[in-house]
Amino acid sequence: MKITAIKGFADILPGEVETWQFIEQEARAVFASYNFSEIRIPILEKTELFSRSLGETTDIVEKEMYTFADQDAKGSWLTLRPEGTAGVVRAYVEAEMHKIEPVRKLFYAGPMFRRERPQKGRMRQFHQIGAEALGRGDPFIDAEVLLMLDDLFSRLGLEGASLQLNSLGCAECRPQYRERLLKFLHEREEELCGNCRRRMERNPLRVLDCKEARCIELTKSAPAILDSLCESCRNHFERVQDLLRQADVKFLLNPRMVRGLDYYCRTTFEWTSDQLGSQNAVAAGGRYDGLVEELGGPAIPGVGFALGIERLALLLRMKGDHKAAGPSVFIVWIGAKARDWAFPLVRRLRRKGVSAEIEGETRSLKSQMRRADKLKAVAVLIIGEDELQKGTAVLRDMKSKRQEDISLANIEAELMARKAS
Ligand code: HAM
Repeated sequence: MKITAIKGFADILPGEVETWQFIEQEARAVFASYNFSEIRIPILEKTELFSRSLGETTDIVEKEMYTFADQDAKGSWLTLRPEGTAGVVRAYVEAEMHKIEPVRKLFYAGPMFRRERPQKGRMRQFHQIGAEALGRGDPFIDAEVLLMLDDLFSRLGLEGASLQLNSLGCAECRPQYRERLLKFLHEREEELCGNCRRRMERNPLRVLDCKEARCIELTKSAPAILDSLCESCRNHFERVQDLLRQADVKFLLNPRMVRGLDYYCRTTFEWTSDQLGSQNAVAAGGRYDGLVEELGGPAIPGVGFALGIERLALLLRMKGDHKAAGPSVFIVWIGAKARDWAFPLVRRLRRKGVSAEIEGETRSLKSQMRRADKLKAVAVLIIGEDELQKGTAVLRDMKSKRQEDISLANIEAELMARKAS
């Protein structure tokens, strides 16, 4: 019987993977120019890391984590990471990075796991590229992180993504807002959905994020967090907005944007695209000033984001594929002597970085040419016994169909020069 992949877990096949490679390669280049270093963290972590970082009442922790018992430690639980921020902060604290240099700009890329209902743009194993700037609480770094994403999107040629911005306040002003919101919600409690009623006391802001039409309607006139910010949060947020305006990055304020994770404070943001359907967030993030301390480190602020590679690849592929380049040269041989001469040549070329291809079994010239065409080879070198004797062979450019005789004596240098040009 055929074994299939698990629902919500996808293979990224050749043809599609090139778009992923393009995204990853451009992200690395942009991140390097902003001086972010790569960090690689485990996929499996102690469950506690996520429940403590993301919040017990979040959808992720309540129902979406892949969690199982640790067979090596009775009573302990392990979880496949649903996101990357918690692991990066754990690593930062565990390696005591702050003792050497508290300001760290880190990025990561890899699979994340959430047991959500799979649909277009929503997978159970999905991939993020994320960046976290730790150790700086100033608004310039919030802006820097947003500008870095904006630069990446323009380098990728992403069009039509829009940025929504909010501030969730801090430990000083959020409790007061929370009380105001809770009072407003209590007055309408009976009409809210069961989920909202249940979560309301522990995290009333979650109610603003509810997707039920009734709850959205009921909370339309709810107090807005942006009216409740303390002076310091207000100044911080104003500065972030000024810096974005100066850099000509367009944004919309959305005071209802709560985000699905509890570690956020102050600046939060989401980049959405209307071409994605209901799962419209391409990238999202914000500030999380209490998280390092929550995970056992000193009071060190942080801000970051993660983008969803699946969603970004979907958008880029709507504009056209990033096809893999075919081999630089395909060697067509006629007769065993030509084959025995060509096989080691292919290896020498490959070792010099020229992508070369050759068939092993005897096939007609026509069938080898067809194969070269199918592989989208840039050029074909045709060699038979005559050519070997003469010391020249025909090189055919597959696009222009131009053919020329080239000397076999310095064939490697010749083909390498063509690859470079
Ligand atoms: P998040 O909003 O949960 O934030 O996820 C970030 C992005 O990951 C989303 O905008 C989306 O593009 C992608 N994504 C999330 N879930 C799925 C899914 N099931 N299938 C496909 N793509 C998905 C975080 O994860 C935070 N750690 C971001 C952050 C970093 N905040 C501060 N630093």
